[in-house]
Amino acid sequence: MLSIQNLSYHPAATPDAILHNLSFELSDRQLGLMVGPSGSGKSTLLEILAGFVEWTTGSIYWKSQELTPDHLQQICGLVFQFPERHFCGSTIVEELKLGHIDLDYERIQSALASVGLSHLNPSASPQSLSGGQQRRLALAVQLIRQPSLLLLDEPTAGLDWSMRKQILNILQELKKDWTILVVTHEPEELSAMADQTWAIAHGKIA
Ligand SMILES: Nc1ncnc2c1ncn2[C@@H]1O[C@H](COP(=O)(O)OP(=O)(O)OP(=O)(O)O)[C@@H](O)[C@H]1O
Ligand SMILES: [Mg+2]
Repeated sequence: MLSIQNLSYHPAATPDAILHNLSFELSDRQLGLMVGPSGSGKSTLLEILAGFVEWTTGSIYWKSQELTPDHLQQICGLVFQFPERHFCGSTIVEELKLGHIDLDYERIQSALASVGLSHLNPSASPQSLSGGQQRRLALAVQLIRQPSLLLLDEPTAGLDWSMRKQILNILQELKKDWTILVVTHEPEELSAMADQTWAIAHGKIA
């Protein structure tokens, strides 16, 4: 279980805090949905949970262990908004192997299968995939690390209806095995599968 207690983030460069006193909990194998308008602090929260940014006050726990940014980097996997813009492998396998030199064939196939991409040629270029396939590859890149907590920033943004539907179906399957936190400003299609929903505005949970 993830437990966030009184988390605030106030970088020195900003006049006001970006996140104010956030507290919430997410149980194992649940999908939590954080909904808020542009600028409400959603991506900032995910960057903190992914261990990329150090928060100012408050505590983050996984089970009963209090976590540092280093721990968070190890246990969380963040899929950025528009993750396909950050692909840097020249093949699907290279993209999946970034950061792990010794991944075996089985682990690669199982990551691709979990996002419905096992039919693809692993030597194909990520750039040759459709928009929906690229999103699914970006999910596989994080799943292959087996994160305790999967963090998704606007996972369906910019996709057409059929590709959004594919991603929603995959999330429905993934939530059986993984603990997932999704942030979005467009909750409509995601709310039905969320186990818990929070509203964030101006860095505060309502
Ligand atoms: N590094 C930074 N320095 C100063 N201000 C920042 C920084 N990063 C984000 N902010 C500010 O923090 C607030 C929250 O931004 P954030 O990107 O987290 O919002 P968001 O909810 O993800 O918005 P969107 O839906 O547009 O992606 C905004 O007011 C933004 O201008
Ligand atoms: Mg954002």
